[in-house]
Formats: sequence, C-alpha cells, structure tokens
Amino acid sequence: MKDAKKLYIQTFGCQMNVRDSERIVGIMQRLNYEPAGKPSRADLILINTCSIRQKVEHKTYSALGRFKRLKARKPELVLGLGGCVAQQEGEALLERFPYLDLVIGTHQIHRLPELIRTVRERKERIAATTLLNGSPERFRGHTLQIPNPSPRWTSGQDYQIPGNGNRVKALVTVMEGCDNYCSYCIVPYVRGREISRSSDDILREITDLAQCGVREVTLIGQNVNSYRGNGSGTSFPDLLERINGITGLFRIRFTTTHPRDLSEELIGSFGRREKLCEHIHLPLQSGSDSVLRQMNRGYSREDYLHKVEQLRRASSGIAISTDILVGFPGEREEDFNDTLDLLKRVRFDAIFSFKYSHRPPASASRLSEDVPEEEKGRRLGLIQDVQRQITLEKNRELIGNKEEVLVEGPSRRDPEWLTGRTRSNRVVNFPGDKDLIGQLVPVEITKAYQNSLKAEIL
Ligand code: 5AD
Ligand code: SF4
Repeated sequence: MKDAKKLYIQTFGCQMNVRDSERIVGIMQRLNYEPAGKPSRADLILINTCSIRQKVEHKTYSALGRFKRLKARKPELVLGLGGCVAQQEGEALLERFPYLDLVIGTHQIHRLPELIRTVRERKERIAATTLLNGSPERFRGHTLQIPNPSPRWTSGQDYQIPGNGNRVKALVTVMEGCDNYCSYCIVPYVRGREISRSSDDILREITDLAQCGVREVTLIGQNVNSYRGNGSGTSFPDLLERINGITGLFRIRFTTTHPRDLSEELIGSFGRREKLCEHIHLPLQSGSDSVLRQMNRGYSREDYLHKVEQLRRASSGIAISTDILVGFPGEREEDFNDTLDLLKRVRFDAIFSFKYSHRPPASASRLSEDVPEEEKGRRLGLIQDVQRQITLEKNRELIGNKEEVLVEGPSRRDPEWLTGRTRSNRVVNFPGDKDLIGQLVPVEITKAYQNSLKAEIL
C-alpha cells in the first residue's frame, strides 16, 4: 500500500460545519489520507468556512493567507476552501486567491475524491458550487438543478471515523438548509432549501454509533422543528421517540430550533422521552416586536414568553439558551431595552450574542445600517453584562444539587480530573478514574463558576 497522504482541515462556524468536516475526514480516510497534525505536514489543506457574520468570514480569509506561504514552499500541496464562504463566493475566490486550488460548495462534499483527483492529475483549479436544491429565483442567477439529495448523505458510510472510535458524543444530521429567510440571515442562500433525511437512515446511523460506544447524540439541522422525514412524513417528535428506543444510547439533544415552529408535541417530548436531555436552544434574536417583524421571525415577544412558559411547565428544570442579535438596522434604544427586559424576564441559562452585520443577498442588507459600530458594541456589552450575572446566579443555585453527568474525558486543566456535562448541558469537572469515561455518573455540585461547575462523585 502506498504511503498515506496527510490531510489538515480547519473548521470555522457552527456544528453543521463541524459535522461536514467529520464527513470530509471520513471520505478522505477511505482514500488513504490520515490526519496531518499540523499544516506544514499536510498534502491537502481544507478550510471549512462560515459566512454567518462578517467577522467570521474575515477569519476565513486570514486563515487562507496563512497557508499561502506553505503553498509557495510546497507547490504539490492542494489547498481547498469549502463551506458557506465557498458557496457564497464561488469561482471569484479562484481569481482573488491565485494560490487556491479548489472551491467546494456546501452540497458538493460527496464529490471531493473526484475533484481532488482532477486538481492533482490535470493540474486544474476548480470551483464546484452547484446547490442541489437551491432557490434559483433568489440567488445571483446561479443555474440550479432540481433536488437530488441522495449523494449528500451517503448514509452509513461517512460517519465512521477510524482512529476516533472512542467518542462519547456524536453529531447526527437530520435535516439541512433553511426555508425561513429571516431578513438578516445568509443561511438559506448558502445551504439551500430545507431537506430532511430519511428517518430510517438516521436510526441506522445512531444504532451503529451506539454500538461503537457513542452514548450521546446531538441531532443537528438549521431548524429541526420542520423535520418531515424524507417522504415518510415522520415528525420530529416521532423521530425522537424512535431514537429514544435505541439500545446503548443514553442521551439525545438537538439543535437548533425556531420559536415559531416549536410545537406543543415537541415541548411535550421533554419529560416524556427519558433520554431527551432537558435543554433547548431557542434563538430569540430580539425582544422588540417591531425588530422581530423587520427580521421576518414570525413571532412576537409575547409568543416567545408563552413558549418559554410551556417549556417550563413540561419540564421545570429545563435549560434554555438563546441567540441575541444587537444593532439590527433601525433598532432604537427602546427596542434594545425590550431585549434587555426579556433577558431579565426569561433568565436564560446561556446566550450567544452578536453584533449585526450585513450579509448580502439577505434582504436586510438592503436597509441602511444605521446603528453605529460603537453603539452596537455598547449594546452587546450591556447584554453580556446582564447575562453574565444571570448565568452565575443560576449556576450557584445548583450548589448542593445531585446531577447526572455523562463523562466525556479527562479534564483539560488536570488529567487526574474528569469532565462531562449535566443533562442541562452545563460543564462539570470532578476528580475521578478514567474508567468512568462514557458512563453516567451521579455527582453533587460543590462549586459554581461562570462557565463550569465543580463536583464530587456520589
Ligand atoms: N449578523 C449578525 N449575527 C447574525 N446571525 C445570523 N445572521 C447574522 C448577521 N447578519 C446570528 C443569529 C443566529 C446565529 C447563528 O448567528 O443570532 O441565530
Ligand atoms: Fe437563518 Fe432564520 Fe434559517 Fe436560522 S431560521 S438559519 S436565522 S434564516
């Protein structure tokens, strides 16, 4: 057998991208590629990019700049760029970065072996960015084909990652794309229309993962509430019920949801399916009705508060996390204060907060960006200050509680300690034996910090 080639992959952005990078590693391992460890050892470097915000997109370009020197020293190195920036910019990237060999769109991952072969053997530079089920009327006049989703999930083949067989947790894609067209968001344009994966495929994948020792799965999709099976009409709560029955699997999580589509049936799954962990990520974006309307979110602050109430009624200790966007075009001081007010009312367990940036062709990018950068920074700071306090208070309330932790591995700070998460997704560190990795352990919380808890095994 020929010497293995070496792959280095750098991932930006969300769990979708993390999962795509895993798929790429799986595909390339079957072609005798192994991890390079560091870029200077690689024969193939791929940057898996994100374009959700301007800042993340810029990081992508800086990464590319760093690899330029390597390519100059080692011309046979293949340098590729995938993910949402690749989808968004396409061929223009080849013009802008003459040292880039390959641009690979979000729906083209399954073609990677063929594309890399062409780059190597024919010394061609390629941009492959057809969206298999995009929306031609909405995006820059690309000619798009009619859906043929099957190649995107070569089910049961991509997810085995040799050499990493001792994973406790895994991400499992249940749907891709988004049809919501929130006015600030680029996702529908770079990830295509919503498409659900077949429930049988998902079941098969998770059953195999559980047999390989995976104990927790996170079901991922841009908007899992609109999961519809693939022709079967299976609803997301039905899917959860079926996954709940898989032997060897301890825990189920999912992300991300849309408040408008959060059904009573899904809310009712908390507390009813014992493997479903009591945590939901429910992006709010803004607490102001007028901003929510401008964002095309399809719910009001009252609707949101009502969903929170229903969730807490179904499962009293449920952890709720959210995304907050500040400085949306036209956001006035009073709108922002509505957001602050909602944060204090809901008392989220965690938030991710961002300054708005234009993302053409998302429709809000046609509005005038009238909140000055400095003011966006001030609003973001205020949001984060308020939440920091709430998170700490909520963590402190847990001191003395007994919690179930799934042990994920040795703690980063001290190898004699273990780290894991509670069902509500809080990080817990405690002294313990490595044999416990992959097991559910009862602990008592002894100390609370901003981002983690300390505990002792009971
Ligand atoms: N500017 C800033 N943040 C954004 N997000 C999405 N689009 C933008 C944008 N144009 C944030 C939203 C979303 C999260 C994943 O990223 O809060 O929920
Ligand atoms: Fe973007 Fe809205 Fe779809 Fe989320 S639901 S990916 S914010 S368009």
